[in-house]
Amino acid sequence: MNLKTIEYTNGTLRIIDQTLLPNRLKLITIDSLNKSIEAIKMLRVRGAPAIGIVAAYTILLESKKLFLKQKLNNRSFNQICDKLRASRPTAVNLAWAVKKLSDCYYENSNLINHMLIKNLEKCAISIHQNDEQSCSAIGHYGAQLFKNYKNIITHCNAGILATGGNGTALSVIYETAKQNQDIHVYVDETRPLGQGARLTYYELNNNNIACTLLTDNSAGSLFTAGKIDAVIVGADRIAANGDTANKIGTFPLAVLAYAHDIPFYVAAPASSFDLSINSGKLIPIEMRPEKEVLSFWGISKNAKYNVYNPAFDITDSKYITAIITEYGILEKPFNKNITKLIHS
Ligand code: MRU
Repeated sequence: MNLKTIEYTNGTLRIIDQTLLPNRLKLITIDSLNKSIEAIKMLRVRGAPAIGIVAAYTILLESKKLFLKQKLNNRSFNQICDKLRASRPTAVNLAWAVKKLSDCYYENSNLINHMLIKNLEKCAISIHQNDEQSCSAIGHYGAQLFKNYKNIITHCNAGILATGGNGTALSVIYETAKQNQDIHVYVDETRPLGQGARLTYYELNNNNIACTLLTDNSAGSLFTAGKIDAVIVGADRIAANGDTANKIGTFPLAVLAYAHDIPFYVAAPASSFDLSINSGKLIPIEMRPEKEVLSFWGISKNAKYNVYNPAFDITDSKYITAIITEYGILEKPFNKNITKLIHS
């Protein structure tokens, strides 16, 4: 499948509108800061690396617009960065990408000219290209671990649709499938927004990977039936001790794996690590609107419900067998090995 989640050509930024999948594959143009923020908040583009890449291109395009109107200055530049950073709080790739563009701006800001815009463009493109390469490297390292597994379970979507390349968790599946034709993936539907049902199933199916969709609360019965060989998920933010934020519902899957002595793997690029925090307890968790929970059931807008709708949960590192990165496989003790690998 030749999917390109994010396209930047001749100064135009386009993304797949993921809210329409799997029924409709439609590209939309992101040509303003407001459109970009709306797309990130509404999950038209989603997945930690993908939102970082879109934020980087948005800073470039918005800076270019202001520059042409002679309105680009430190204040207007910072405003763009602040608004993008605040659009989704959990995935650290977003803040990471904003910082990269901001560092580039301030290294060149003594001369606000075409060169500055050129350098911002180079920086955004390199974030996109490096993510593509990281995805391939994650697939390569992960396939060494997965070659003997048959039945894998995954949660949410950490694939092509979430990154600038082949994905993180799903890149491992795609690489493994090249050597191990027997691989089969159980796909958690991932309530409330159905990233598993709508996106992961679509991606895997289109890439000829055998897969089966299940409701999130069916996973336990597969473990007790001995039908799961390994779990693999992506990450939105990994603390220095290995605690991992990922889509809500990841943590129960990790506990199930632990209780059944099944390996639980996280696949993520270095841009998803936040070494400034030493515990998952410090990761901000995005709360989402109640309508995401209620609308699925067609409950009337006038009905009064109290709703709890966090977008992510934290998996304590004790439940994680290893973390697959573009630099190699991180094993325990995570505290020591993360710092060594990510900084080396
Ligand atoms: O709310 P979403 O769809 O952006 O959540 C995405 C996830 O939780 C992914 O697993 C994570 O970002 C990793 S994507 C490589």
